[in-house]
Amino acid sequence: MPTGLAFWSMVLYRPLIVPILMATGFTMLLYRALDLPRRALRRLTGDTSDYRLHLFNHLKDQLGDSRPGTILEIGPRDGVDTERLLSLNPDRLIQAELPHAKEALEADLSGRGVLDKVEIRYGNIMYDRALDDLVPFDLIWCTGVLYHNPEQLRMIARLFDWTAPGGHMVMETATARRFPTRNLACVEIWHNVPKHVQRRYHLSSHITHLPSRSAVAAWLEMSGYGRVEHSPCHRQQSFALSRNRAAFVCHRGQDDEQYAYYWHMDENYPIGRAL
Ligand SMILES: C[S@@+](CC[C@H](N)C(=O)[O-])C[C@H]1O[C@@H](n2cnc3c(N)ncnc32)[C@H](O)[C@@H]1O
Repeated sequence: MPTGLAFWSMVLYRPLIVPILMATGFTMLLYRALDLPRRALRRLTGDTSDYRLHLFNHLKDQLGDSRPGTILEIGPRDGVDTERLLSLNPDRLIQAELPHAKEALEADLSGRGVLDKVEIRYGNIMYDRALDDLVPFDLIWCTGVLYHNPEQLRMIARLFDWTAPGGHMVMETATARRFPTRNLACVEIWHNVPKHVQRRYHLSSHITHLPSRSAVAAWLEMSGYGRVEHSPCHRQQSFALSRNRAAFVCHRGQDDEQYAYYWHMDENYPIGRAL
């Protein structure tokens, strides 16, 4: 094909070519290729730090000299972050977990020697009242939990209510996957998805709602957090990871809620509040 014709084909068909490349996973391959030098360097230097450690370090930067007295960790799973949170020397570290995970969680925490340093409440944070006598918390650590729950705005508004004024909240989640919705402030609904599509997008059948990064950022601000810092923790580990996940380190000021959208009482009832 003459070079000139190839050039004009690219120009004329660009609106088609870009989505096709995206949909066929080309960009994921590109990100993997970009990650290669970094992965090689990590292997050579024996660097085992991952995004969870980078996120914790970001939190420590935001905390500065302040020490959170009470911490809530939601969905602790393997206890890796638990050990980090305990290093902040809190008066109490409360954990919230679904009842079915009890045996595995307690075995993991015990293996790390931290089971007796935490108080675990079993229940669904969305619908059970297992934490009512403990709120608010100086720090809430909520990583890898939001996208397992369909009522995501309600969860974020609830966590804002549970954050003490002057306190902090860390939110990390998987995010929207499809081109072009991944870059819009929206939520993708995944329903009746064939297995091969799930595999291509690294999803499982119980994940039905994937919010985009900007949707989560908007909800955090609209719920009341005055300072919402987007964490570069995933990118510090790999470009590929940063495409599919997002993390935020948030601060609730002393009277932040007065500026928040979901605290408006114009109609004599709070909009979008977690009840
Ligand atoms: C994918 S794991 C995340 C583990 C760890 N925090 C991390 O970042 O790797 C999600 C955990 O959250 C728990 N979880 C999800 N939704 C929950 C809810 N509504 N209430 C309490 N725990 C929940 C699950 O049982 C699971 O242990």
